[in-house]
Amino acid sequence: MPEWLKDAVFYEIYPQSFNDSNGDGIGDIPGIIEALNYISDLGVSALWINPCFDSPFLDAGYDIRDYKKVAPRYGTNEDLILLFKEAHRRGIKVLLDLVPGHTSDQHPWFLESKKAEKNIYSDRYVWTSHAFEGIKDHPYISGMSERAGAYMLNFFASQPALNYGWLNRTEKWMSAADSPEAAATREAMKDVMRFWLDKGCDGFRVDMADSLVKNDDANKSATAAIWRNVREMLDKEYPEAAMVSEWSNPQQAINGGGFHMDFYLDHVGNGYNTLLRDYEKGGEDNSFFLSKGHGDIMRFLDDYLPKYNATKDRGYISMFTCNHDTPRPARTLSVPELKLFYAFLMTMPGVPFVYYGDEIGMRYLDVKTKEGGYQRTGSRTPMQWNHKDNYGFSSAAKEDLYLPMDESEDAPVVFDQVSAPDSLYRCLRRFIHFRRNNRDLWADIPLEILYAEKEKLPFVYRRGSLIMAVNPSLEEQSVHLSGASKLRRMEMIGKIRTEEDILYMEPQSFVILQ
Ligand code: GLC
Ligand code: CA
Repeated sequence: MPEWLKDAVFYEIYPQSFNDSNGDGIGDIPGIIEALNYISDLGVSALWINPCFDSPFLDAGYDIRDYKKVAPRYGTNEDLILLFKEAHRRGIKVLLDLVPGHTSDQHPWFLESKKAEKNIYSDRYVWTSHAFEGIKDHPYISGMSERAGAYMLNFFASQPALNYGWLNRTEKWMSAADSPEAAATREAMKDVMRFWLDKGCDGFRVDMADSLVKNDDANKSATAAIWRNVREMLDKEYPEAAMVSEWSNPQQAINGGGFHMDFYLDHVGNGYNTLLRDYEKGGEDNSFFLSKGHGDIMRFLDDYLPKYNATKDRGYISMFTCNHDTPRPARTLSVPELKLFYAFLMTMPGVPFVYYGDEIGMRYLDVKTKEGGYQRTGSRTPMQWNHKDNYGFSSAAKEDLYLPMDESEDAPVVFDQVSAPDSLYRCLRRFIHFRRNNRDLWADIPLEILYAEKEKLPFVYRRGSLIMAVNPSLEEQSVHLSGASKLRRMEMIGKIRTEEDILYMEPQSFVILQ
C-alpha cells in the first residue's frame, strides 16, 4: 500500500475544459502545467486526469485509438512527461485514466481483429463465429467487417469489448477466462501501464474495472483475479503506484481485486446518492445536505458502514464532490449547503476527490451534447478562472470554445473566490489543509459514530482525537456530548455553543472539536 495515499486529496481534471494554453479553444496539458501553482495552493496532493490519449473522441476520449500516444489536441508525450515532473516538484502525484475494457473501433488491434484472415489480434476482442450469430444478453454489432462474426460492445457502438474471456461459457466461441488469448489481453494492458509508469505517472484510475470477464459470477471473482494479478505486478515493480477503480463495490474491488481505492459512485438510491442527489430517484429531494432535506444520515450510514467495515483494513473508499459523469453538486445545493458537504467529505475516512470547478461551485449547465456526453456534458464546461475573455480559459473566439461557458452574470470565478474570505473556495481550501495537517483525519484513521439517528440531527462522528458535528438544517439542533464545553474548536462553519455536556449547533453549521 503506497504510504502517500494516507493524506491524499485528489483533484480530477477533465483536460478538454481546464486551461487552454494555445488559444485553440480546448484545454491542454501545457495548460494544466500552467495551473499547477493554483492546484498546489488549493492543497490537493494528487491529480486524476481523464483520458488524454489519441482518440476519435466519440466518448470524450474513453474510446482510445492509441494507449501510448497523447492526443495531439492536448499536446505531446513530452508535455505529459513534463507534467509528471512539474507536478512531482510540487509534491503532487498524477494518475492517468486506464480504459481496459474496450478500445475505439479505430484502434489498430481492432482493425486487425476485423480481418477475415486469422492473425494475432483475432482473439483480442469478443467475437461470435458467424455474422448471423449474435450475443445473448449483451450488445453487439454485426455486418461491419469482412470477418464473419459479430463483435461485442462494452459501452457505446464505437467501443468493442476486449477479450478477457467468459466465466460461464455457453457457446463454443467464448474464450475461457484462463485461456491464452485472455491472458494476452491482460498482459497487453500491463504493458500499457508499464509504459506510463516508466515515464513517471503514479498510477491509474481504472475505467469500468468490473467489466472485464463476461458472464462472471456474482462476486465478479474472475474479473477480480485479473486485478489481483495486476496488483502483484505493481507491488513487485512499482510499489508506489496507486490504483482506484470505477467499480463501486469495495468488497469486490478492494478485497477481491486488490485495488487500493474504490469509488463510491453516484447510483440512484445508494448511500452516497442520498447525501446530495436524492432528487435523481424522482419525487421529493430529501438529500441530507439540503437544508430542507429532513436530514436522514441513516440512509447513508446503512449503506456505507457495511462497505467501510468490510474493507477498512485493506483499502480506501473514495467519495467525490462529483465527477465527469454526474451532475455537479451545485445543481441543487446552495453555497452554504456545499460548504457543509465539502467539510464532511474532508473529514471522512478514505481518499476524497474534488472535481475541477467544484471548489468554486461551478454550475451544471444546460448545454448540447458533445462527444458522447449527453446529459453528462453539463458538468464538463470550461473552468472559470478570471474576468478576462472566456473567463481566462482560452483566448479563442467564443464560437471556437470546446463547450460554451457559464453565461450567467453571477457565474462563480476563481479570481474572486481566492481573495474572498467567506468564499466556497476558501472554505474547501481550509478543510483540505486541515485534513492534510491532522493525522487523525487521514485515510486510515477509524470512523466512530457518536450520534446518528433516523431523521434526527446533528450527525456526530469521531476520528482519533477529533469530533465532528454537522447540522445541515435551518433549525438549531442540540445533542448530548460528554465534556462538550471543555472541547477546543478547531475548525468551524457557522456557529455553535456548548453548555457542559450539550453541544448546540446553529442552522447550517459544522464543527471540528478536540
Ligand atoms: C466510464 C467513464 C465514462 C465513459 C464510460 C465508458 O463510466 O467514466 O465517462 O463513458 O466509462 O468508457
Ligand atoms: Ca489548447
